[in-house]
Amino acid sequence: MVARKQHAAGASYPLRAYRAWDAPTRWFHWINAILVATLLILGTAMLTGRWFGVGDEGTHQLQRIHVVFGVALTLNVLWRCYWAFRGSRSAQWRAVLPGGHGYWKDLRAYLSAFVAGHPQYYIGHNPLARLGVTVLFILLAVQILSGLTLLGIDQLAPPERWVGEPTAQWPVGTPIPYLPWAIDWTGADAAAIRTPIRLAHLYGFYLLVIATIQHVVAVITTELREGGDLVSAMLTGWKSLPGRPEDENKTDVGPRRRPARRRH
Ligand code: HEM
Repeated sequence: MVARKQHAAGASYPLRAYRAWDAPTRWFHWINAILVATLLILGTAMLTGRWFGVGDEGTHQLQRIHVVFGVALTLNVLWRCYWAFRGSRSAQWRAVLPGGHGYWKDLRAYLSAFVAGHPQYYIGHNPLARLGVTVLFILLAVQILSGLTLLGIDQLAPPERWVGEPTAQWPVGTPIPYLPWAIDWTGADAAAIRTPIRLAHLYGFYLLVIATIQHVVAVITTELREGGDLVSAMLTGWKSLPGRPEDENKTDVGPRRRPARRRH
């Protein structure tokens, strides 16, 4: 679809709509955003609750709810990993992870064009966004692996130590099925094993706070600077670009005409 858009400087240019994101990728993105935001809020509440008078039972309840959201996040990320092999071109690993033929040259060209004020356009992730998204995936993997390990360690912990038993239950109080990597605390120095993993989960949390803020700021900056519609593209799948995309010939999903609306 071709429309015209008023540029900030006053000039107008033709906008062309491209099919950017397939439906499973968009569902993953918004479910992931909701789950990560909720886990960040629950994590903050677990860490600071005591300052505001939240007692042991309240903290345990927060931990159980946290685990439910953590398992949902794990399933959603696993689904996305599968879809990176099966999905459309812009959803695949080679369009998401940095690297591959000419990647660093493309990154330099993108950065110098951005700084010079005449940005390059991409239907999928631009080379800088690929770096940012990869950092987010790595941090999610750290949280998932350390979180599931903590769950296994806590599962057989005696109730009087750490938060053992309460964490190993769903919010309704039914026990979580026995995890194959659950550690028998009898004779094992489980507390010592737990400490570095808990620290990895905690520092992963801090880094994820920074990376999430950086992600939102990057989307807003790119949208303001490049005049595209990144946020609505993740809702509708269609991205409107005011210039020829650099990855036009690399994608199997664009450009296509937006389907005409039916008139009744
Ligand atoms: C966005 C992802 C996540 C964030 C931001 C997050 C954040 C946190 C935070 C801040 C804590 C408290 C750490 C502490 O007391 O030192 C925590 C604890 C915990 N998290 Fe996560 N987490 C995430 C994902 C997960 C996942 C995927 C699981 C796995 C099911 C999980 C399971 C746990 C467990 C078992 C604890 C231990 C509770 C405790 O012993 O205090 N988390 N998480």
